Amino acid sequence: MNKYRPSSVSTFSFRSPLVKRQLDQRPSQIASLYRARSTIYTNNPRRNYSTEDKATRFVTSFNSFQTFTGVVLVSFLGAYYLYQQNGAKMSSKLIPSDPSEVMVIRDITPNVVTLSVPFARFGMIHVGGRATLVRLTSGRWAVFSPVALTPEVKAKLAQLGGTVGYIIAPDFEHHIFITEWAKEYPEAKIIGPEGLPEKRAKAAGTDEKIGNEKFAHVYTPADKQFNQIDADFAKDFEVEYMESHPNKEIIFYYKPERVLIEADLLFNLPAIEQYSKVPEAARNSHGFANKLFGGMQSTEGEAKGMKRFMWYVFSAKNRPSWNASIQRIDQWDFTTIIPCHGETMEGNGKEIFKKIFEWHLEGKK
Ligand SMILES: [Fe+2]
Repeated sequence: MNKYRPSSVSTFSFRSPLVKRQLDQRPSQIASLYRARSTIYTNNPRRNYSTEDKATRFVTSFNSFQTFTGVVLVSFLGAYYLYQQNGAKMSSKLIPSDPSEVMVIRDITPNVVTLSVPFARFGMIHVGGRATLVRLTSGRWAVFSPVALTPEVKAKLAQLGGTVGYIIAPDFEHHIFITEWAKEYPEAKIIGPEGLPEKRAKAAGTDEKIGNEKFAHVYTPADKQFNQIDADFAKDFEVEYMESHPNKEIIFYYKPERVLIEADLLFNLPAIEQYSKVPEAARNSHGFANKLFGGMQSTEGEAKGMKRFMWYVFSAKNRPSWNASIQRIDQWDFTTIIPCHGETMEGNGKEIFKKIFEWHLEGKK
């Protein structure tokens, strides 16, 4: 690498409208700015660039969209590596040690109850965790992304009546508490994505929280919209399996109350409810990291960080399949979205969904 080459002389060529405007309107100021900076490159063999040209490159490299995307991508890959390292640890390290103390049990509707808990990814990013309980028309309950089955949760279910008939891991990651719920409700049907039974079988024996339970149904690309777990389930739910998502997401639509239930498809940070019972010092820890990641995983405003994250990172591997899934989900008439990470989106779920997945709904390649 040429040590005299300014980092600003990049191979990026895209110029955002902002940069173009800056160059059009203030070329002399930018040129003088660059001239001051370039004095340190007195031995630079590339000095045959014109000053205007250098100025263009200098400004462009720091403002280009590719630069932004590159930073996001590198951050994500680093974060994903850490996540995998973290995930390789015993599951007990990943969950709150005092779930009864910190869990928020809330009725979203008479038939939908959320169980919200704090959860810090990489031990510092406050993404929160959330299980969703749904009462089917049959009277039986389904639990999605189960969290700790505390005495309070058991009491809640006893108060509401019925029993748990379905234990659902809606992706490759949200499965740790399956065993705990299956022990309490041995008749419940266990549902998850392809690869999860094998992952759990491997962990069973070395991880005390994870057993080797039999799955009633495992989703594959061959049955992306399968909802015939049984007649009761099919009556109340539509399903979309997104094998194109890195975590193999299964998205559920609870038709009677127009609620979309998902795990990692769409975050909605900050995780206010999930951290509402945590001592203030812990709630405010790792402020910079949370601000940075939270900004990228927020649905507020134009949510450009989130949209770009979805487009350039999550959906990049198989965008046609991703787009098709998003378009099918958009056909469902939901108003509320319950995510596992961050705030629930009650009443405005469809608007947020359309905003975040705008490019996928337009069918861009
Ligand atoms: Fe997750």
